[in-house]
Amino acid sequence: MIEMQGVSFGYLEGEPLLSDMTLSLQPGSFHFLTGPSGAGKTTFLRLCYADLLPAGGQMVAFDQDVRALSRDGIAALRRRVGVVHQDPQFLDHLPVAENIALPLTVSGEAVDMKELRELLIWVQMTQQARSLPPELSGANVSAPRWPAR
Ligand SMILES: Nc1ncnc2c1ncn2[C@@H]1O[C@H](COP(=O)(O)OP(=O)(O)OP(=O)(O)O)[C@@H](O)[C@H]1O
Ligand SMILES: [Mg+2]
Repeated sequence: MIEMQGVSFGYLEGEPLLSDMTLSLQPGSFHFLTGPSGAGKTTFLRLCYADLLPAGGQMVAFDQDVRALSRDGIAALRRRVGVVHQDPQFLDHLPVAENIALPLTVSGEAVDMKELRELLIWVQMTQQARSLPPELSGANVSAPRWPAR
């Protein structure tokens, strides 16, 4: 699914942050990536969804060389890679419920309103479903319980 052969990347010219990465991430496999702060974990993930492109080596995602992808090709790749960022990213002009449904909306899939409501109940955010993200405060949402009841 994602294959890297000798991939390198650096934010600054001539200063590689990641180098000689050779790996293969198979469909359905499960991986942990650990390392100290600043080691390059987020950078590695950004390479995986072509937010950054390798400076050297070869990276193939879903059978395509990422450096040969067009803008549309990169968009198509991103539709197949779900990412939960360490800093939450919302569209501030859309209500919470629409933000949650956004990955389905942009990929043209039907939104199951029953599932959406169940998700909101699970994280105890039904009251905030119509709120805009800037209106939310960590203080008015009680901590979710696990598992949901
Ligand atoms: N956009 C950027 N421009 C320049 N340098 C960057 C940029 N993003 C990250 N870096 C640098 O690259 C290195 C790796 O950063 P990265 O965010 O990938 O680390 P991380 O392993 O995800 O860290 P953390 O555990 O703190 O999230 C750090 O030294 C960081 O300062
Ligand atoms: Mg990080």
